Amino acid sequence: MLHNFNAGPSILPQEVFEQAGKAVINFNQTGLSILEIGHRTPLFEPVMEEARMLVKELMQLDKDHEVLFLHGGATTQFMQVPMNLLDENEIAAYTETGTWAGKAIKEAKFFGHVEIAGSSKENNYTNIPEALSVTPTAQYLHITTNETIAGTQWHQLPYDCGVPLVADMSSDILSRQLDFNRFDIIYAGAQKNMGAAGVNLVVVNKNILGKTKRNIPTILDYRNHIKEASMLNTPPVFAIYVVLLTLRWLKAKGGVAVMEKRNNEKAKLFYDTLDALPIFSGPVAKKDRSKMNAVFVMEDKELEKEFLTLCTQEGMIGVKGHRSVGGFRVSMYNALKIESVKALTDLMKDFANKKG
Ligand SMILES: Cc1ncc(COP(=O)(O)O)c(C=O)c1O
Repeated sequence: MLHNFNAGPSILPQEVFEQAGKAVINFNQTGLSILEIGHRTPLFEPVMEEARMLVKELMQLDKDHEVLFLHGGATTQFMQVPMNLLDENEIAAYTETGTWAGKAIKEAKFFGHVEIAGSSKENNYTNIPEALSVTPTAQYLHITTNETIAGTQWHQLPYDCGVPLVADMSSDILSRQLDFNRFDIIYAGAQKNMGAAGVNLVVVNKNILGKTKRNIPTILDYRNHIKEASMLNTPPVFAIYVVLLTLRWLKAKGGVAVMEKRNNEKAKLFYDTLDALPIFSGPVAKKDRSKMNAVFVMEDKELEKEFLTLCTQEGMIGVKGHRSVGGFRVSMYNALKIESVKALTDLMKDFANKKG
């Protein structure tokens, strides 16, 4: 049996793979593949509609928050957000928490002034900054709710920062209950908790749009996507279908609250084991540990190699740390079963017993 700890694209529910596979051959008993139907047809339109409605329902969004499925990955949102919200002479506040926040900051600088409201750079991104300093005239504050590489996660959200709140939730979307209506933009690449690569979820509070003086190219203006119900051009139909299947699965399991409970159990099992075994250590401040991506190391780099080989032999996929950090990273997204975390922690215990 394989245990898939990949960071993204990553594990999805088995049912989703099976249903998506069937739809490639014969979509909804139509005799046609999902890959060969037009997007503006009575076959696909309900897919888009149901996916958008399910996001609204699962995130309990109010009527001001619009749901879009866009192309280009979360990386496109790094520039689309400031292009829509920030003029050249204006300030946007960003938190600097790791690789992904850094990429968002870099793109925002093309459009206006970036103020660093809080940073953990000095600590090598092993924590979430505690006190933020946000200029009241900033157009928005941007946070990365979960840093997929550094293995940190915001557990206290800065809802009261005094300016519109924008979040990159690529690696923890729908994994826990948050007050989603208090964010003005949420974006997330689908390929971790939500579906297949190739589509982005973007949730926008429509009231914050239309304030910039900049001319925005048609395809990059959120207002055009809202007007066209996320069908401004050909959407990534198959990726959206996989998102729909994943959302249906999530709802059938009991929704975000149930995902949060399961994710808490998995993270507790993992981190309790890590803390009990001195041979392993986690660089991240305990209070800021990510429940999605746990990073850990061993002092002895030869032992690290040995443990990695053992993981491969035992069918543990994607355990190697990101190349920029080293060590190990295990991603425990919604679809990962606790049995996989149990198998990994048992392996860690056995290894520590033999080597300790
Ligand atoms: C937190 C975070 N933001 C953004 C991205 C970039 O996403 P994409 O590759 O979809 O552009 C990733 C990718 O792993 C991520 O983890």
